[in-house]
Amino acid sequence: MDGIDPGSLDEEARRILRLNDKGGYTVPTAGLYPYQWNWDSAFAALGFATFDVDRAWAELETLFAGQWDNGMVPHILFHAVDDGYFPGPDVWGTQGAVGRGAQGLPSSGISQPPVAAALAWTVFEMDREAGAARLAALFPKLVAFHRWMMAARAESGAVCITHPWEAGRDNAPDWDEAMAGIDPVGVAPYTRRDTGHVDAKMRPTQADYDRYIWLVQFGRDRDWDDAKIAAESPFRVADPTMTFTCLRSLRDLARMADILGADRAEIDGWIGVLEEGVRSLWNPATQSYEGRNLRTGQFAGSVSNAGFLCWWAGVGDAAVRGTLDTVLDRCRYALPSYDPAGPEFDHLRYWRGPVWAIMNYMAAKGMAEAGLETQAERIRRDTARLIAERGFAEYFSPIDGTPAGGGTFTWTAAVWLAWASPSVKGA
Ligand code: DGY
Repeated sequence: MDGIDPGSLDEEARRILRLNDKGGYTVPTAGLYPYQWNWDSAFAALGFATFDVDRAWAELETLFAGQWDNGMVPHILFHAVDDGYFPGPDVWGTQGAVGRGAQGLPSSGISQPPVAAALAWTVFEMDREAGAARLAALFPKLVAFHRWMMAARAESGAVCITHPWEAGRDNAPDWDEAMAGIDPVGVAPYTRRDTGHVDAKMRPTQADYDRYIWLVQFGRDRDWDDAKIAAESPFRVADPTMTFTCLRSLRDLARMADILGADRAEIDGWIGVLEEGVRSLWNPATQSYEGRNLRTGQFAGSVSNAGFLCWWAGVGDAAVRGTLDTVLDRCRYALPSYDPAGPEFDHLRYWRGPVWAIMNYMAAKGMAEAGLETQAERIRRDTARLIAERGFAEYFSPIDGTPAGGGTFTWTAAVWLAWASPSVKGA
């Protein structure tokens, strides 16, 4: 890539991973996110694998040490309480949760996009000898996680979320209709901590936060019982992020089963369900895969980067490629999290416009596998330029590259080391 000297940036990325390493688990960034987050952690493993494969496996093992008895892997593991973050373990109240079991780390009561199996497979492929025993030990836990997800979240055929935080795309326009249906009465008084760390214009709104906390209280009041939440919650939205990352991980889980000599019939069955179910996320009106409100059947009418993870899941086609090319033409830096021509576009506000390196990694990897080399290379080059010019930020404006959210960010450093850096050959 023209004009980018990877040497010092590679070193800085490794420094960031070490900086955020709390000993067995990695925080996304100090201050704003002081705990272990599920999909952040899987990306941390990917980054560590480029220079310390033992540490990469340790990251995944620590994440799965927080797995509930029912197979769920929480979205946050609260290893050491930190008052700089809200909501903490007391608000989640998961000690007596249905499915949690008596043991285990304090955690949230929801999950996050299941990227762990796909990234564990990538870590394994980077050093098969070092990873053989670690993969064999992790495999049954990964299967249990997906068994839970298919049973607890895939009743529509696609994977749904019970809270916007479960998708990782907290304030994406995909949830606007379902969020508008929540009247956040009864939310206990609280103080946001996120806006004490970063500019409020880069974060979700107060109206969003009231509903986030209302949904936490809703789950807590039902002891995090998946069946009760599925039956009673006003918020249940089928999500392309969850569905496509799950489908990709299932395909990699099947590869693991093959090399471990395990039976893959159950995994193949889940793959079949999701291959069929992704069709329910296709909105002909926007020619893209979108969130669909399971309570109303409505699409969001919102073209997002999550829809472009279809190739990562192995299901992209010519129609969605046309939408991708249109969106690429509309931004200086790809991929925006929401179409810059859409009415809700906000270039710095979290998942309503900004570019995220992890989404670029998955989307572009999938595109390259499907033969969309030009689009994949554009996205990789843009990711590298953003990081080289603006640093290891949490996310960036697709319009002018402004770095936003937290700094010294783990998954941005990880994606640099594993894919975006010009020093990575054959990415
Ligand atoms: C946050 O606190 O912003 C997180 O996205 C919740 O997981």
